[in-house]
Amino acid sequence: MNKTFITLLCAAATMTATADEITLFDFEDFNLGDAVAMRDYYSEDGTTPSKAEITSDPSGKAGKVLHVKNGSWNTLAELPLQGITAEEISEYDLITFDLYRPDSETDDYRQFRCGIGDGFLHDVENEFLHQGAKGQWVKRTYSISPVSSTSDKFYIGFNSVDMEYYLDNIRLVSSSDDYDMNNPEETLRYHADRITVPAKIGIGCAVPAWNDEVVNDNNIAAQTIYNNFNIVVGENQMKPAYLQPKKGEFSWWDADRLVNLAQRHDMEVRGHTLVWHSQTLPWVTSDGYKNDGNGGKGYNREELLQILKDHITTVMTHYKGKIREWDVVNECLDDNQSIVYSQPTKYNLRNSVWKTVIGEDYLDSAFVYAHRADPDAILYINDYGADFKGDAKSEAYYNLVKRLLKSNIPVQGVGFQCHLGLGVDASKFENNVKRYADLGVEVSLTELDITTWNAGDYEQHIRQGEDYRALLEVALKYKHIRNFVVWGVTDDKSWRSPDPLLFKSNYKPKYAFFALRNTLEEWADRAAGIEDIEVDEQLPELSPYVDVYDITGRLVKQQLEREQINSLDPGLYIIDRKKILIR
Ligand code: XIL
Repeated sequence: MNKTFITLLCAAATMTATADEITLFDFEDFNLGDAVAMRDYYSEDGTTPSKAEITSDPSGKAGKVLHVKNGSWNTLAELPLQGITAEEISEYDLITFDLYRPDSETDDYRQFRCGIGDGFLHDVENEFLHQGAKGQWVKRTYSISPVSSTSDKFYIGFNSVDMEYYLDNIRLVSSSDDYDMNNPEETLRYHADRITVPAKIGIGCAVPAWNDEVVNDNNIAAQTIYNNFNIVVGENQMKPAYLQPKKGEFSWWDADRLVNLAQRHDMEVRGHTLVWHSQTLPWVTSDGYKNDGNGGKGYNREELLQILKDHITTVMTHYKGKIREWDVVNECLDDNQSIVYSQPTKYNLRNSVWKTVIGEDYLDSAFVYAHRADPDAILYINDYGADFKGDAKSEAYYNLVKRLLKSNIPVQGVGFQCHLGLGVDASKFENNVKRYADLGVEVSLTELDITTWNAGDYEQHIRQGEDYRALLEVALKYKHIRNFVVWGVTDDKSWRSPDPLLFKSNYKPKYAFFALRNTLEEWADRAAGIEDIEVDEQLPELSPYVDVYDITGRLVKQQLEREQINSLDPGLYIIDRKKILIR
């Protein structure tokens, strides 16, 4: 119910990136039966020559289409460009077309290519292009990069032997909408900074470790970061392996530059991370699990506790007062949590070197050392694969946090990494994280990224943007959710693929950027009371019960008897989508 309400409010201002587009070929001015040349790109010369011609639509709808039968590898249909040059084409950044296949194996890969003359506009990795195209038209969208050529020959098709397909409506699209990052109102952080109800929201990104670019204020990488985000985290710079590569020898250079960048631009910092099995102290363990440091002798429990204490204390003291929150322990849970099915309050810890040599209480100790080193820092536990209610690992995570709190361990924040893929069920995330409010801890999305299925597919970018938006709406709605941190800046530099982040390799914003910015803007405006609540004319019949929201859209009472409305505390509420003042 609450959700419906929020969606209703947001629908009005949903942004659609304006897209410029032109049709290159819809084949309507060709004649049925016209042969289309095939270019054999690498002279593969199969036994059956590849053939293409103009036919009618195999699905029976009106219209002419291009029909291709590949007999050899690397053959592409050759079409004459009319009235447009390679230079003009290079102003667009996407190509879309409709694809139809009479057959389609379930496990074959196909490569899509197109180009002008000898230059490829798009030359991709293998993909499951056929999927969904068997017996029906599907839309495909790919990114293109500029080609300099004076040729008027346009090439398009699949790099595959023995493949039959139809193409139609080949269009070029300029995906959008740029933004002016020097105009605050066009950035993410300007709007995030205006939000104070129900709580402040941190909008953050991981700063990639190629520090030379990101710490130079004149570089577009740094500018993109400090203009858009109010909190940053080092993607690698503060991991134990980087900070203490040799016992007792600390190397602060990269991490300090990150903190300096943040301080120059008034951004908060998340520290990531103090204790982990991966990228951990290389002189303690070769793989995070084996106790094979110390010249092969390994360390005993007391020694490892001392090592943890020294590392945590030295690092947190060095950054005292400069880091808002620390991921004290990262990824301590095992992936297999089937234990929760038989023992619903339990969890399994990962058998890292810390756990096997010290025991479970390495967690307790780490938090206590951290709290002593910097009592003002907010101490987080952080993990992946525990994002959605109902997943065993999510239950285990909840159990673990409750156990630590019961032991009076100073855990103050719970991080959900959120390394996700297209098709996010935000309500499962909501159901998972809302219960942490009762534990008195704050929650953050700490490493969010959402992969698509095919690189450069604009429709998937739109779906991805909607997934990002839905998660941000959850984050905004709850007081105990503090940070919404995306794991990187541009797609090409992400640790995952395809296309998981908010910016393209050239720092141009993707649809997801606009989805987030508009959501932040609406929320800020709404909280400031600037925007009038829209009233839907077709209200359902009045029910005897009402859901009561505060002015920010947060549910304050569910299913209140209508007669009881006047007994609410004085204030402004939204009931039945109308503002109601109770005095
Ligand atoms: C990743 C970085 O993005 C990569 O650059 C690095 O090579 C490996 O680590 N969970 C975490 C992050 O907590 O620290 C990881 O970051 C991604 C998974």
